[in-house]
Amino acid sequence: MFQRFLRFTMKCQNPAKKFSTATQNNFKVCVIGSAGGIGQPLCLLLKQELMITYLNLYDIAKVNPGVNVDLSHVNTTPIVQAFTGCNVVVITAGMPRKPGMSREDLFGANAAVVYGFACAVACFSPCALVAIVTNPLNSMVPVFSEVLMRCGCYDPCKIFGVTTLDLVRASTFAGQISCADPSYLDIPVIGGHAGKTIVPLLSQSRPPLPSMTQEDIQKLTVRIQEAGTEVVKAKAGEGSATLSMAFAAARFVRSLLKGLSGEPVIECAYVRSCATDAAYFANPLVLGRYGIERNLGYGKLNAYEGKQLQEAVPILVKNIEDGVKYVIQKADIKPPTKCEPPKPPSKTKG
Ligand code: LMR
Repeated sequence: MFQRFLRFTMKCQNPAKKFSTATQNNFKVCVIGSAGGIGQPLCLLLKQELMITYLNLYDIAKVNPGVNVDLSHVNTTPIVQAFTGCNVVVITAGMPRKPGMSREDLFGANAAVVYGFACAVACFSPCALVAIVTNPLNSMVPVFSEVLMRCGCYDPCKIFGVTTLDLVRASTFAGQISCADPSYLDIPVIGGHAGKTIVPLLSQSRPPLPSMTQEDIQKLTVRIQEAGTEVVKAKAGEGSATLSMAFAAARFVRSLLKGLSGEPVIECAYVRSCATDAAYFANPLVLGRYGIERNLGYGKLNAYEGKQLQEAVPILVKNIEDGVKYVIQKADIKPPTKCEPPKPPSKTKG
């Protein structure tokens, strides 16, 4: 059984599915939070991406000019320089969790950060595709979107909550159990990006997983849902996932760029959605020249997955409400249209 399964996996394509091979390679990408734990390895991965011509590093941290210079010494194509008119902006800035905290506990610290950068994106790269990594993701995507709505440059097809790490983890852990190469396993993960809102669709794995007991399915599901906490505990107060998150975000950015260059790619992400009662929801999307080309929905669920989804939606609705309320209250105090430009990092050629 496993041999047959392994042979099948070797024939399959990489999870970020593509339709053709033509690529454009002159994109400009900005990483906001470039000096942070996720930002630095993400910038290093993107500095090796042939589709990028200009890589912009933005961070308020004092070390950021140094990160610019450091990265500019890497002898790859992208030129490291300042922030304006980007094709893709990635937001990784914000506080990470400490043991005992939920992602929701970061709302107070990170909503203001995302709010501020939404104003900056509205001013300087209003046409960019925006990939948000900052937690709590379920609320930060609504915060960002609400600000752009108020700035008059909201396009729901261009704003993404990056949930790719949940898919990466799902295939890693399922691969460990089934002795398959995880990089060839494609398991959709729908819902959001926190605890029970993370709903892995093991029944839709491609190639199919070997048959598992319901107990094993539940264990695997919970491991995927709690994987972020597993890292937070293991780092013992020194932060949350940075390397695996950078890996996942780089994969997502690469898929956005391929889509932009006319090579549609399927990826899951947390976006504006009509799929459920939650106004934002993650499921597979076709990414194309203008961002989301088509929302593929979540397909057929088995009874267990259906129950998981039922539990996830009310939590998502609440998380989304928190984000929307935050912007309504804050916008009363200071209209986001009066945004201050971020200071660009010093120009350094790499
Ligand atoms: C993760 O899934 O690892 C990230 O969302 C970070 C966290 O706080 O869990």
